[in-house]
Amino acid sequence: MAWWRDAVVYEIYVRAFQDSDGDGVGDLDGIRSRLPYLQALCVDAIWLTPFYPSPMRDGGYDVSDPCDVDPLFGDLDGFDRLVADAHRLGLKVIVDLVPNHTSDQHPWFQEALRNRAARRRYVFAETPNNWLSFRGGSAWTRVDEEAYLHLFAPEQPDLNWRDPEVNDAYDDVLRFWLDRGVDGFRIDVAHGLLKAEGLPDDEDVSALTQLVCDRYSHSWGQPEVCSVYRRWRAIADSFDGDRLLLGEVYAVHPADLVRYTESLDQVFNFFLLQTSFDTVLLRSAIDAALVVPNPTWTLSNHDLSRQASRLGGADRALALSAFLWALPGSVYVYQGEELGLYDTDVPRELAVDPFGRDRSRTPMLWDADGGFTTGTPFLPLGAGQSVAEQEGDAGSALEAYRALLRLRRELLSRLGREVTWRDTPPGVLAVAREGGLVAVLNTTSAAVPLPDGEVLWGDGGPVSTTWLLAP
Ligand code: BGC
Ligand code: MG
Repeated sequence: MAWWRDAVVYEIYVRAFQDSDGDGVGDLDGIRSRLPYLQALCVDAIWLTPFYPSPMRDGGYDVSDPCDVDPLFGDLDGFDRLVADAHRLGLKVIVDLVPNHTSDQHPWFQEALRNRAARRRYVFAETPNNWLSFRGGSAWTRVDEEAYLHLFAPEQPDLNWRDPEVNDAYDDVLRFWLDRGVDGFRIDVAHGLLKAEGLPDDEDVSALTQLVCDRYSHSWGQPEVCSVYRRWRAIADSFDGDRLLLGEVYAVHPADLVRYTESLDQVFNFFLLQTSFDTVLLRSAIDAALVVPNPTWTLSNHDLSRQASRLGGADRALALSAFLWALPGSVYVYQGEELGLYDTDVPRELAVDPFGRDRSRTPMLWDADGGFTTGTPFLPLGAGQSVAEQEGDAGSALEAYRALLRLRRELLSRLGREVTWRDTPPGVLAVAREGGLVAVLNTTSAAVPLPDGEVLWGDGGPVSTTWLLAP
């Protein structure tokens, strides 16, 4: 069975995890020094957010060279050291691939600005259509008689995936990192690459609607985009081991996610990230996620509010995680969620991200003094208890996450993939997974007798989840 199928993947927002050289910015050597922590947390893989050369107009998702390391984060030798150490500790390494757009500083785009004949790698038009950028306003920026398309910021021009040279170049990008030993890719905005032929106007031009309601958009979620992933599947499969292709795809309908899994191994679903702490809504979000082959479970990432804030409490976040982790599929953990961290209000004058996402990007809290850097951190530290303060405290979030992940790993070999909902009173969810695991989430403060008399649980305690194991 492929290693990623029930794996726990830990997302490292590289800038904010661990600084090694005192410049206040996290880096690859810093990550390397923290691998034992991740191993002890019982994660199977790390996913590194972009560390490529970048002007950092979008936290590194504006890449000016996809085959190198930005000096801020280290160099290629440092990357190789990180992969070698991770592998030695039994950890897989997944890197972020950002194929929808480049930075406007990428040599291709600089050439396109200078020379109209060299524009085919991007999407230029004399008469822009009515598409809106996800960041607001028109998705087009005029440079002369022509304008170029950017579904995100103007500093992130969209590539033209109908151009063979773009396709060939990214084949080489994949091979470059696969040759260096990476175990897979997280593909940024995987539903964006190919736009409808002829660039027709959208009927509904609300930017948010375009991103999520891909059925009504000519820019997002075009079925032809999977032709790119069929090509990448063949490349990934030509390497040894199971190299993971994971897509970041926003879709409203689970069926629209399913088609990506014919060529990608798995896709994120964001149903749970858009759901409040209500058992009826949670159950339908879980059902939607289970429709998609090789499901993924995630409650936060570097773009969104931390789940303790979003769901209204660290106890709720832990309870929901514990419930989801009983289900078949891969678990994606975002750095700091194991500490029960909440969002941090970053004062405007210290803000780094132009799109308001600093709240979940503050540096990791390693010890009472921070432990992230010996210099001045690029963003202020958030409030919360650090790793060192929680370690060894059985009542802490960290020890609860650790214990749960350890138990999950131990149980996997006996668990199947079938799941069955049990009848439960309002405010309670119970799901049985083939192999003898029942998870019960009680969002009420009342004691809860399950209908089959199996458990009486709740007892005025806090929101929580219990795992019941058949002998
Ligand atoms: C990434 C964001 C980024 C955007 C554009 C996303 O989905 O997660 O951080 O701003 O893609 O690259
Ligand atoms: Mg540094």
